[in-house]
Amino acid sequence: TVPVMGYVSTIYDQTQTYVAASPGRAVLLAVVYSPIIAILLNALQQLIIPRNRSLPPVVFHWIPFIGSAISYGNDPLNFFFKCREKYGDVFTFILFGRKVTVALGAKGNNFVLGGKSTAFSAEDAYTHFTTPVFGKDVVYDVPNEVFMEQKKFVKVGLTMENFRSYVGMIEDEVDEFMKTDAAFLIYQMNDINEWGRFDATDVMAQITILTASRTLQGKEVRGNLDKSFSQLYNDLDGGFTPLNFMFPNLPLESYRRRDEAHKKMSQFYVDIIRKRKETGDVSYPDDEQDMISALRTQKYRDGRPIPDHEMAHIMIALLMAGQHTSSATGSWALLHLANSPEVQEALYKEQVENFATPDGKLRSMTYEEFRKLPVLDSVIRETLRIHPPIHSIMRKVRSDVPVPPTLAAPSKDGTYVVPKGHFVLASAAVSQVDPLIWSNPEVFDPTRWSDPEGVAAQAFNTYADEGGEKIDYGFGAVSKGTESPYQPFGAGRHRCIGEQFAYLQLGVVITTIIRRVELRLETDSVPEQNYHTMITMPKKPRNICFRRRNFD
Ligand code: HEM
Repeated sequence: TVPVMGYVSTIYDQTQTYVAASPGRAVLLAVVYSPIIAILLNALQQLIIPRNRSLPPVVFHWIPFIGSAISYGNDPLNFFFKCREKYGDVFTFILFGRKVTVALGAKGNNFVLGGKSTAFSAEDAYTHFTTPVFGKDVVYDVPNEVFMEQKKFVKVGLTMENFRSYVGMIEDEVDEFMKTDAAFLIYQMNDINEWGRFDATDVMAQITILTASRTLQGKEVRGNLDKSFSQLYNDLDGGFTPLNFMFPNLPLESYRRRDEAHKKMSQFYVDIIRKRKETGDVSYPDDEQDMISALRTQKYRDGRPIPDHEMAHIMIALLMAGQHTSSATGSWALLHLANSPEVQEALYKEQVENFATPDGKLRSMTYEEFRKLPVLDSVIRETLRIHPPIHSIMRKVRSDVPVPPTLAAPSKDGTYVVPKGHFVLASAAVSQVDPLIWSNPEVFDPTRWSDPEGVAAQAFNTYADEGGEKIDYGFGAVSKGTESPYQPFGAGRHRCIGEQFAYLQLGVVITTIIRRVELRLETDSVPEQNYHTMITMPKKPRNICFRRRNFD
């Protein structure tokens, strides 16, 4: 301590001499030193002041306010695994001034996703981010019980009957895309047996919006995809980024464009709804088998019809909820298939065995047949295990909530409390690749799903609709699934309702491509994950090489 005191007094003396020469220098020094002092005080406070034992441990961070934002933002999985080593399954980190308490593992998932909506609120965590994009009076802009009714309305449009008609439509769209888009030029030249290549995510983004609009969104959206709608979509999407999540209102051009695009897109859907009402009121499902038709038949429990603007905003919410999630999953699936010729071959063989016709062609699948393809099913499950598009699910804490001692406790008899005002965070991305649960978790191995006694099957059974406890949160009975380590579609009351549609869309897109071309990776390995977007995407380069199948 003696030399340190010597340094401090020297710095003090020199500073005094420096400031005495001109009063302006004091201001300059304050500007230079205050961040340093703030950083030091912040560090000292974490190291010296005994922490409140009832609060979960706080991840050490140098810079106040910013906290652990950089480590979390760059690689959340690495950050969580490292924190788990140091602090256990429950810890708090600072994210731009927010206190975020993470609960890891299957028990952590259950704690966050199985929590009551009065204690853990999704709307308080998300509305600042979603309402400018989706619009007023829907999803997180309404109380939870109203949103649950809205989820029920949407489920009416996601029926088996609709899905049956969607299989052929999705096939058609992919077929047409491969026959016309420049990315597949070499495929279009029948007599050239050469490899072409495409960017996995660029192609999947286009195929996803084409197929979603042909099916769920309806013919008016599909008809406008080449025109104004795409620009509106891009502007809206530009307001759906991590920056928007962290800072809801910045005076930036992208925010202005987001708001402008929202107004126009809302009007676009309202116009469709009004026009459909004017041109005859044929009741669902006889006019169009899309979501607008389904919504038009629904009423709130109190008898109130759904206002046009709410239907419009639900449509925007569905568009945004399904687009990046499905296109990211599709990209990862194609990349892994390109990297695993044997899995690709098994998938192709499954198609040939089930759908080959005597004239050597492959016929269309029915929805019922589609649901009984184990290789395809396991490829999608395995893709979603390694690459769940949403790595962090958050809720805002509305009242103090004790952490079950079985999840984490400060001592044998103690309990942590997550205080009101914190956020809680669950990460299926961690539990789905946790080496304590899965063997060779980083390896893409769809066969792990075929062992009925294996970890994967058990995790799936507690998650899937077929098994596990069922609960009705207001949108029909669903498997609770909150305790499963595998939950790419979330769990509990906020569980995804697009799951079956996503499986259908992804399954038909993947098989339609695999039927026509073989795939190889251009790089040595599957790209790394890019966490700088809301949805985890493959980093560039992410090219896939392809060649027409019927040449070999
Ligand atoms: C909720 C994942 C596709 C509509 C969720 C949640 C996840 C998820 C993890 C839970 C969010 C939370 O708890 O905060 C996925 C994945 C998809 C996908 C991995 C594709 C592979 C879709 C599609 C639609 C959709 C295609 C629409 C047709 C919704 C809706 C919710 C939801 C309405 C409910 C949000 C809530 O209750 O708070 N999804 N989703 N999703 N998803 Fe999906």
